Amino acid sequence: MCGIVGYVGSRRVVPVILEGLRKLEYRGYDSAGIVYYQDSKLIKYRCEGKLSALEALIDDAIIAPSHIGLGHTRWATHGAPTTENAHPHTDCTGELVLVHNGIIENYHSLRLELQAKGHVFKSQTDTEVLVHLIEDYLENDLVAAVQQALTRVEGSYAFGLFWAQMPDTLIAVRKHSPLVLGVDESGAGYIASDIPALLPYTNQVIFLEDGEMAVIKENDMQVFDSVSGNRVQKEATTITWNAAMAEKAGYKHFMLKEIFEQPMAIRNTISGRINPETGEVTLAEINLSDEDFCNIDRIFLVACGTSWHTALVAKYWIEKYAKIPVDVDIASEFRYRNLLINDRVLTISISQSGETADTLAGIRLAKQLGSKVITICNVVGSTMTREADGTVYTHAGPEIGVASTKAFTSQLAAFFLFTIFLGEKRGTLETEKKLELAAALIDIARVIEELLPVLQEQIAQLIEGYYDCSDFLFVGRGVNFPIALEGALKLKEISYIHAEGYAAGELKHGPIALIDNKMPVLAIAPQDDLYQKTISNVEEIKARQGRIILIGTEGDKHLNTITDAIIYLPKVHDEMNPILYTIPAQLLSYEIATMRGCDVDQPRNLAKSVTVE
Ligand code: G6P
Repeated sequence: MCGIVGYVGSRRVVPVILEGLRKLEYRGYDSAGIVYYQDSKLIKYRCEGKLSALEALIDDAIIAPSHIGLGHTRWATHGAPTTENAHPHTDCTGELVLVHNGIIENYHSLRLELQAKGHVFKSQTDTEVLVHLIEDYLENDLVAAVQQALTRVEGSYAFGLFWAQMPDTLIAVRKHSPLVLGVDESGAGYIASDIPALLPYTNQVIFLEDGEMAVIKENDMQVFDSVSGNRVQKEATTITWNAAMAEKAGYKHFMLKEIFEQPMAIRNTISGRINPETGEVTLAEINLSDEDFCNIDRIFLVACGTSWHTALVAKYWIEKYAKIPVDVDIASEFRYRNLLINDRVLTISISQSGETADTLAGIRLAKQLGSKVITICNVVGSTMTREADGTVYTHAGPEIGVASTKAFTSQLAAFFLFTIFLGEKRGTLETEKKLELAAALIDIARVIEELLPVLQEQIAQLIEGYYDCSDFLFVGRGVNFPIALEGALKLKEISYIHAEGYAAGELKHGPIALIDNKMPVLAIAPQDDLYQKTISNVEEIKARQGRIILIGTEGDKHLNTITDAIIYLPKVHDEMNPILYTIPAQLLSYEIATMRGCDVDQPRNLAKSVTVE
């Protein structure tokens, strides 16, 4: 949801901002813009489309000396993705410039009020009211004008602005939308919507909290409470990611690179946390006592998108091994239903970014109702990790491709760790079982590593007969049902083929009506305890001439009697199947999407980090 980059310092500003925006393009890519101060005036470029279109416009400016600027990539909320609606937006004088991420909910009434006072608007955006409102309060003191304007604004925002009459100062404000600050050895100050934008320049990051405002000059960065104006002391956090981790490293797409990084991401997620000799799990940042874990009688899992599929798998694991009832909710539903939550409930959010607006709202609500909150999250220092009582980090490294891959399998690995941890705390896991589960988890990265290169080739050949389909069904049972949902989501996200995931046993209650000799059905059919049931469902599809693709266990000869399109995977512990069977589903979607000529890293209409409701 919109990417913001700002810089003040002694480098030439345009390349710094463009490089930062490139790292944030996953947040939105329907229009882009930049503004910088040079030769005593503001220079602004904006255009529709991706960042490359903006870069083409400003070729010459890259070498021009300039030391303060702001850039933006947009994911449209109010107003179409046109040049006029692209950020930065300016006030009536053209001297105050602003980029924004979030939604100004009362923009309509503010706009009418400001228009009545003579302000002239040039866009349909909610953002433009912010800059006119600040102008309205502005006499000489920019900080005071921002503070006054904020008292009038409702909604969520992260914004950066500067004023041509004060061209050494960048102001950054945050409320319910992410914004981080960066500092480097040269004394430069940075603002960005997400850490990857800063990594080429610094790993020293300061997290702004809601309601804080930063006033940034070269060699001077001060943070204030935007309401009281009181100074807030902030410490920089050292980020262990490096810039190369956010590059494609020779792969054609980030998504493919991230698929291949999964063994490493899973290893990093479990490393140092599980003792192979005892099966014991240590989760350093969990921050809840043994008593807390023994006192809970229900768990709520809250997430969106792919992370929600992790929650669905986790329900099976936790109920089976830790013996606690688990409710799974899509965060946008969770936050608006009547929640029966109290202090005996543990709420767990799952989020790659740690910034998803609905998920964040969900855990805030759960906390208000007395629940303890844990987050399973990939981004160190993100809002969710700061607001939750405890965190289980996935250590997948930066995920750039919009369609989540390595973050998902790392979440599964983290949840499996958490399941063992919880079972141990609550005394529901025998030592032998614990050792068995631990060994299964420890081994899965190796299995995937060995499998990946062969699998990619096999799938590339297989999909030739399927890439031009208009619909696709994915089916699975038990702990693999959510993997059918995830497979369908991957395919629709990046190839725009209509795809649905179903519990295989549910087919006969509706979707079987769709089956004919054109409808491909991918069935996840490992030899687990539901194998016979799944195969019976697949036979029902076969009887209606459905085009079946099977993913099953190596050596399972029965599958050949059903279809020629089979992807064989090694036999692993049943509980590891959701992790393993995700890999072919990801590769299948990737290969189909590239064959259809789709932009897999930046699919249309999507954004990686959804920080608006
Ligand atoms: C967006 C992304 C998905 C992601 C979802 C939740 O829709 O495109 O890949 O699963 O947000 O994001 P989160 O960061 O909370 O996991």
